[in-house]
Amino acid sequence: MKKTVLITGGAGFIGSHVVRLFVNKYPDYLIINLDKLTYAGNLENLKDIENKPNYRFVKADIVSADQMLQIFNQFRFDGIIHLAAESHVDRSISRPMDFIYTNIIGTTNLLNMALGQWKNNFQDKVFYHISTDEVFGSLGQEGFFTEQSAYDPRSPYSASKASSDHMVKAYHNTYGLPVLISNCSNNYGPNQFPEKLIPLAINNILNQKPIPVYGKGENVRDWLYVEDHAQAIDIIFHHGKKGETYNIGGNNEWKNIDLIRLLCRIMDRKLGKPEGDSERLITFVKDRAGHDLRYAIDATKLKKELGWQPAHTFETGLERTVEWYLLNRKWLENVLTGEYEKYYERQYQHR
Ligand code: NAD
Ligand code: DAU
Repeated sequence: MKKTVLITGGAGFIGSHVVRLFVNKYPDYLIINLDKLTYAGNLENLKDIENKPNYRFVKADIVSADQMLQIFNQFRFDGIIHLAAESHVDRSISRPMDFIYTNIIGTTNLLNMALGQWKNNFQDKVFYHISTDEVFGSLGQEGFFTEQSAYDPRSPYSASKASSDHMVKAYHNTYGLPVLISNCSNNYGPNQFPEKLIPLAINNILNQKPIPVYGKGENVRDWLYVEDHAQAIDIIFHHGKKGETYNIGGNNEWKNIDLIRLLCRIMDRKLGKPEGDSERLITFVKDRAGHDLRYAIDATKLKKELGWQPAHTFETGLERTVEWYLLNRKWLENVLTGEYEKYYERQYQHR
């Protein structure tokens, strides 16, 4: 094999798309998918590639130095693409410590392992950390986040991701570890866990349950189809300049309420229902604590320097996403376990 690449969090939403892309596109790379399989990790996401000869799955917790040491003793990695994280803002508000352990301590554990294995011989090695635009805080009505924007995280989730970004940069500055970081906007697409806005709304429409919209639905997010994010990760992994950060975004801003209305129209059409049928499920509920008003990414650097462009428009991406959830009701049923029901009850009962 030409390279051995460790992908963490590969059983999750974005990670599974990255693993699939790498396993299929690079048959001469050995891809190791390391995942703890939390509620958000699901090996069903990778059924189509699980028997490929260049793919291995390892169940492990990045917080455990012992488990990481075992894996780093077993394999010699050329590259690490680190996606494993606690990723849901609402959960970070109710259980911040999970985010401190996985996002900060887990990331630092991996940095130590990479440093130990590569022992200052950094030739052709890279530790690529996948991060979020939320580290830059909240925008007003105007402006965009660039790579120069100051860090201003405002939720336990974004603070834990900001902290992990700082550790990655510190290992580069202090020890010379070859690192890359990208900060991406909101992803959507197949296999997203139905705690996030779009799949939660799709699932609720399918089950004729209220669609909870926080506050007045005025908050703005910049949406990117998940396969476009995976493509950007491939390009940055292979061509990014070590020590640099790249912003990734869809240049596709939507107010939550407008997005939900569009989604309702698509669902009505796909389900053969009269227009307006799903919209009546929209229910305004108590706002998220510290709810960031607006995120918007300026991805000029990635486009100009590395030639990345998203391939999907929002309309085509959203259609594909809805179609996937309609065709994969079994997948939805399987992830909607007792844990999900309990989470949903806790999260939405007093809103
Ligand atoms: P996800 O929650 O769907 O998946 C996370 C994966 O990490 C799961 O498979 C889970 O089992 C695994 N994991 C969690 N804790 C672990 C641990 N301690 N050890 C090993 N594995 C563990 O998340 P996602 O939405 O796919 O996000 C992936 C990454 O991309 C995260 O780092 C997130 O911060 C970042 N990101 C996400 C978005 C987005 O819109 N979803 C946007 C920008 C950046
Ligand atoms: O910007 C990148 C980030 O996008 C990623 O780093 C996070 O991992 C990812 O979860 C996402 O964070 P958000 O908080 O923006 O995503 P979420 O889907 O939770 O919410 C999107 C918007 O919809 C946000 O303004 C809150 C609102 N919302 C969310 C839920 C779950 C609702 O109005 N109702 C809901 O039930």
